[in-house]
Amino acid sequence: MYLLSSEESGRWEAAASEILDGKGESVARAAARVRPDMRAAFCYYVGTMLASQGRTDEALPWLEYGKAVEPIPACSYLLDLLDRQGGEFVIPEVAFTDPRPWGHFSSLPSLSSARTNFIERATASLPDFEAPLRYADVGCGSGELGIRLVRSLESAGKITGVEDVMLMDPSPGMLDLAQRNVGQAFPGAAVTLVQAKLEDARELPGRYDFSIASSSVHHMTAEQKSVHLPRLAEVADHFLLSELEGNHDYPALGSPELAFSVYQIFGRGVQWVMDQPAPGEVQRACADTFLMTEAISILSQPRGERTEYHMLRGQWKELLGRGLSGFECVCEATCYADEYVEQFMLHYARGAAAR
Ligand SMILES: C[S@@+](CC[C@H](N)C(=O)[O-])C[C@H]1O[C@@H](n2cnc3c(N)ncnc32)[C@H](O)[C@@H]1O
Repeated sequence: MYLLSSEESGRWEAAASEILDGKGESVARAAARVRPDMRAAFCYYVGTMLASQGRTDEALPWLEYGKAVEPIPACSYLLDLLDRQGGEFVIPEVAFTDPRPWGHFSSLPSLSSARTNFIERATASLPDFEAPLRYADVGCGSGELGIRLVRSLESAGKITGVEDVMLMDPSPGMLDLAQRNVGQAFPGAAVTLVQAKLEDARELPGRYDFSIASSSVHHMTAEQKSVHLPRLAEVADHFLLSELEGNHDYPALGSPELAFSVYQIFGRGVQWVMDQPAPGEVQRACADTFLMTEAISILSQPRGERTEYHMLRGQWKELLGRGLSGFECVCEATCYADEYVEQFMLHYARGAAAR
């Protein structure tokens, strides 16, 4: 993904403040002052800021201008959503209530290859486990990724069986599905269910060989991550993190940095969804549920209230390096990358287990 220089960010902020005060130039003149390759993102920044203040009529010309020049459908999909929502810049749907759209979303080719690469890297990086495996899947979703990782460890001859699985997820639908999937995959294993967010789970039951958190712990601020991720390290010798890189934690609401990151990640994400053949209503349900809910939360709610806090890879490493005492990072890998989006994995291991 691209980051804004502080000079460029300052120019965007100054221009936006004039526009919000009603003193700005016309859309075309203001956009012409921005570098051509940044114009769509700038229009998205201004358009979403106006829309988030309930000024949708003023936002529309910015989004229309952005739509005409954008390489990814960030402005155009937002226009479509605003149209469907009667001009309201509000979160379209509660995420993760129905398990089926996640199945569709996780099979998108880029996400699918990122998940396969994650499994390969994690399999190579984890050691042999002599006793039957015990693992914890935090924010397990359907449980499918954990199951695939265990199958891969089995094929690599690194495990002798599965004894104990802890599945944690706040969504009853997801937890139910994961319980069924894990029960079918490993019929002899004991399965413990924790229906909670990590930050709300009082005690983590059991002790595990590894814990895995894939696309699930970016829903809390850095301050919460610093408190709760070390709890996963306390109950397991290995911690595997798989995350999308983004700049949605530290930047404040209304900052150019926040909008620029959302433009890239969610614009590219919508493009993936729309490029994958499916009925229009399935594509829309998928984009609305998994992308626009988060995008609108980030762009309209202050830090602490928004639902999503993707961080840059270096920020994760800094936070985990500080928080996981006695652990070291034994594997860091890029699982997917293009010019806008990157999915990466980090494997931390406790002292002796790391060598
Ligand atoms: C994008 S899905 C990923 C599911 C699974 N880990 C995977 O990679 O296939 C994110 C999951 O995290 C869960 N989740 C959201 N916030 C969470 C939190 N604070 N703690 C634990 N799980 C959370 C959601 O309910 C959802 O099932």
